[in-house]
Amino acid sequence: MILVTGANGQLGRCFRQLAEKYPEWTFFAEGSDTLDITDETAVEAYFSGHKPGWVVNCAAYTAVDKAESEAEKAALINVTGVQHLARACARHGALLIHFSSDYVYHGNQGTAFSETDPVSPAGVYARTKLAGEKAALEILPGTMIIRTSWVYAREGHNFVNTMLRLGRERGHVRVVADQIGTPTYAPDLATAVLEIIGQVENGIKKPEELAGTWNYSSEGVASWYDFAHAIFETAGVQAVAEPIESSEYPTPAKRPPFSVLNKSRIRKQFGLHIPHWRDSLKVCLLPESHT
Ligand SMILES: NC(=O)c1ccc[n+]([C@@H]2O[C@H](COP(=O)([O-])OP(=O)(O)OC[C@H]3O[C@@H](n4cnc5c(N)ncnc54)[C@H](OP(=O)(O)O)[C@@H]3O)[C@@H](O)[C@H]2O)c1
Repeated sequence: MILVTGANGQLGRCFRQLAEKYPEWTFFAEGSDTLDITDETAVEAYFSGHKPGWVVNCAAYTAVDKAESEAEKAALINVTGVQHLARACARHGALLIHFSSDYVYHGNQGTAFSETDPVSPAGVYARTKLAGEKAALEILPGTMIIRTSWVYAREGHNFVNTMLRLGRERGHVRVVADQIGTPTYAPDLATAVLEIIGQVENGIKKPEELAGTWNYSSEGVASWYDFAHAIFETAGVQAVAEPIESSEYPTPAKRPPFSVLNKSRIRKQFGLHIPHWRDSLKVCLLPESHT
């Protein structure tokens, strides 16, 4: 049985939508209203009652800028909540898959970050995500931590939907061109995670082979400007993206100037095919041409 926490978020919803493709597995999808991961008693009671074999933790505090003024709340969800899940998994023998962020990498290197590269998170959100990783691994060394970046899905509050709205409303959008990374289509990430779970369930991989930190994003590289340009082009929105510098769009939290992820480890270990971000963007925006 697979427990998905934070199941009403954009990644969590993808697991719910994919669940029907896996009739052999039982999914329990819980939002913050039915399972608050910051409530340790509730987490323990849930595990005692449902006995999940897997926990896919999509619950997180993700308001990157707001976190600068809500550090305690961000830490409560991104660190303490993760500790509760890791402890419950350890007590009940469940496997934990947890998501972290490319924002833990804040170096100035010009090549893609590997999992072994030094981390240097700059803002509250990024620091809580790194602390959450460490807390999970300390309590449950077998935890699989997946660092991902620029996540979007068809539904939800994300860059794609914001650009579509602003492009249609204004016809002209200024977008930072000096932050480089890679978008990640949430259904691709959820599919990869379910493929990995399947490999363990089918005995192709051992549970201990999941342990540690793994990078996952779509393939390719983009600036936010490139991404916005591609969104308008793909969706056929008559809008112009104008490239600007980060200094022209100040935000409370600093973003890494470069956070491209090297995915070799996860790709090779699990034989994953990771789509290019432009291909996944087409699947997201033009679903009728990909069915
Ligand atoms: N979005 C990105 O660009 C991005 C980039 C890198 C990494 N990530 C990581 O990827 C993971 C999934 O992100 P996402 O984009 O799906 O985030 P999201 O859409 O913000 O979803 C997060 C979910 O967590 C839930 N949640 C918050 N507090 C909770 C609590 N105490 N107990 C249970 N659930 C709680 C939220 O529910 P409520 O709305 O009810 O509070 C929300 O549905 C996160 O770990 C995030 O840090 C995301």
